[in-house]
Amino acid sequence: MSDANTGSVTPATPGVLLVLAHPALERSRANRALAKAAKGLSGVTFKDLYESYPDFVVDIEAEQAALVKHDVIALQFPLYWYSTPALMKEWLDLVWLHGFAYGEDGEALKGKRLFVACTTGASAKAYHMHGYNRFSMDEFLRPLEQTAHLCGMEWETPFVVHGASVKDDAALKAEAERYKARVASLLPKSVEA
Ligand SMILES: Cc1cc2nc3c(=O)[nH]c(=O)nc-3n(C[C@H](O)[C@H](O)[C@H](O)COP(=O)(O)O)c2cc1C
Repeated sequence: MSDANTGSVTPATPGVLLVLAHPALERSRANRALAKAAKGLSGVTFKDLYESYPDFVVDIEAEQAALVKHDVIALQFPLYWYSTPALMKEWLDLVWLHGFAYGEDGEALKGKRLFVACTTGASAKAYHMHGYNRFSMDEFLRPLEQTAHLCGMEWETPFVVHGASVKDDAALKAEAERYKARVASLLPKSVEA
C-alpha cells in the first residue's frame, strides 16, 4: 500500500483477518466454540459475515480494505453442500475482484496466506474414496486452494473438524483449543498472544 504523501510503502498489519460465515450462529456448537477460542487472540481481527451482512449487501470497499490490512486471511465455516455457506461465496464473488485480487494489476492479496477452517457433519471416514462422500476434504477444498494460487497467496494446511455435530462438549472444547493454537501459530511472533 502506498502512502499518498510520502510515497513510502505502509506494511500490512501483521495479523490474521478471521472471516466467519455461519447462517445460524446461535444454533451452532462447533463454529461458535472455535470462533470464541480464536477471536480473542491479540493480532486477530474477527469478522462475522452473517452478522455484518444479514441482507447480503456487502460493503466491498470496507472488505477490500480489511483484506489489504492483514497478511493472513482465515476463512471459517461449516461445510454446506461440500462448499462454503452462501454468504461466504457471495463475499468472495463481490470482494475478490479482477484488478484487486487477480488479473492485471490485481495484486492486493499477493504474498498473503489463506487459511481455511472448516467443520463437517460427516465423519473423517466419509471423506475418503471408499467413504460415502467419495472424495477427500483436500479435494472438496480445491476451489479455495486454487483461488489462493490465482491470487498469488500461500495456501496453509486447512484445519478441519469432522463429525462436528456429534462431538460432545469436551471434544469440542479440545478442538477449540487446538484451533486457537493453530491460529496463534499463524501470527508473527511479535503479535502472538
Ligand atoms: C444446509 C446444510 C448443508 C450441509 N452440508 C454438509 C456437507 O456437505 N457435508 C457435511 O459433512 N456436512 C454438511 N452439513 C452439516 C454441517 O457441516 C454441520 O452441521 C456443521 O459443520 C456443524 O457445525 P456448527 O455446530 O457450527 O453448526 C450441512 C448442514 C447444513 C445445514
